[in-house]
Amino acid sequence: MEKIIDESQQGTSLVLEQKTENTRKLFIESYGCSMNFSDSEIVAAILLKEGYNTTQNVEDADLVLVNTCSIRDKAEQTVRKRLEKYNAVKRINPKMKVGVLGCMAERLKSKLLEEEKIVDLVVGPDAYKDLPNLLSEVEDGRDAINVLLSKDETYGDISPVRLNSNGVSAFVSITRGCDNMCTFCVVPFTRGRERSRDPQSILEEVNDLWSKGYKEITLLGQNVDSYLWYGGGLKKDFEKASDIQKATAVNFAHLLELCAKTQPKMRIRFSTSNPQDLTLDVIETMAKYKNICDHIHLPVQSGSNRILKEMNRLHTREEYFELIDNIRRILPTCAISHDIIAGFPTETEQDHQDTLSLMEYVKYSFGYMFTYSERPGTLAARKMVDDVPEEVKKRRLDDIVQLQRQHSEIRTRAYLNSTVEVLIERESKKSKHEWSGRTSQNTVTVFPKEHYKIGDLVNVKVTDCTSATLIGEAIDYALD
Ligand code: 5AD
Ligand code: SF4
Repeated sequence: MEKIIDESQQGTSLVLEQKTENTRKLFIESYGCSMNFSDSEIVAAILLKEGYNTTQNVEDADLVLVNTCSIRDKAEQTVRKRLEKYNAVKRINPKMKVGVLGCMAERLKSKLLEEEKIVDLVVGPDAYKDLPNLLSEVEDGRDAINVLLSKDETYGDISPVRLNSNGVSAFVSITRGCDNMCTFCVVPFTRGRERSRDPQSILEEVNDLWSKGYKEITLLGQNVDSYLWYGGGLKKDFEKASDIQKATAVNFAHLLELCAKTQPKMRIRFSTSNPQDLTLDVIETMAKYKNICDHIHLPVQSGSNRILKEMNRLHTREEYFELIDNIRRILPTCAISHDIIAGFPTETEQDHQDTLSLMEYVKYSFGYMFTYSERPGTLAARKMVDDVPEEVKKRRLDDIVQLQRQHSEIRTRAYLNSTVEVLIERESKKSKHEWSGRTSQNTVTVFPKEHYKIGDLVNVKVTDCTSATLIGEAIDYALD
């Protein structure tokens, strides 16, 4: 059964009632952005009430779910390879059911059932509450699919089951979808219209996390700065709404302040910021509250005005510089990171040089860098030719990566001999005698364990570093 996409579909409130005993095993795996990892925690919560406990071992599973990413072709190929692996497991355990969730489910819909014989279940990002019904169809021997997109669903009423958690940091999703329509990006098609979650439910989740011992949250959304709550629905409805609605609305700066004040000892991060939506109010709120971390992830994609326009990024290079200047003025110690795409259609050597010179200006602390991957259905795929040869894309990407490496090193070295505040998250991968944590600026820091423990906030004297990691010694606990 395939349900057609209907954006008017109202989000239904789900009463989650725990079934008597959990006897079934769910293996859930996530690819792609943090939002997918966060969504898998919602899925695990929905299925816990259906009698499923999670397992780390795919061979034991009654149900295997893979939460997928469509952002680049490579991400989809990775998932297809995983499906081959599940196929091998299914030969040993034929009763095992396999479902595809997330962006690939939404993009490919019933094609996935046709192309990947192993798949029994296809569920888009807004349809997870329908999983119990879909699973009963699968149990009756039918393939099941729901790829309805919603204009309301935020899963605000579901308390996530934290998966692979270190018990210290957690994601809290605040918006879903994206209305920006960058011409290269498949997200507006796979995750639908942008909607904001009720602030009350966000604060409840933050309080609940604090009571369970969590010390850091990351507020998540494709475009967190356009968060706007005025009672639900789409933002365009709010623009037409009454003055009362406008007076009581909560924007991202308000939400950030509410979170910072409600749990003054909780570290607060957020991601992702879109340059045209990041307001001075947000930057000033960051400056006002010490518990809001000193880091902004601010994707730019390109340094060329012509390419920015072709990408439908709604700002110029000069406006981006102005924003960077404002951040540096109001938050002098703030780390800034980026996403950049090399080889967007029609990109010339000059456009590429503009990207490099933009990077020189900002000297980002770190970044995520990609070659352009044409995504079916996007405006760029429909209207432009993917005309930058693959080897040119790779060479330009290499230039960008090399330059970023230099800048990361400069930024990291600047902390040498200073004292930084580190939240301990886990044992260092390199030594069982050392802790690993992050500074407010998001720099990974390692130091001897001594008597400290996971979840402690400590002052660390930096004595050495690699290009991206600080190495030091803890001095004492950091005062809040
Ligand atoms: N090709 C390459 N990179 C892309 N991104 C989004 N779409 C594409 C694409 N078609 C990158 C952008 C975005 C990040 C999440 O992924 O840089 O910010
Ligand atoms: Fe994609 Fe642009 Fe939305 Fe980011 S802001 S999810 S790049 S459309």
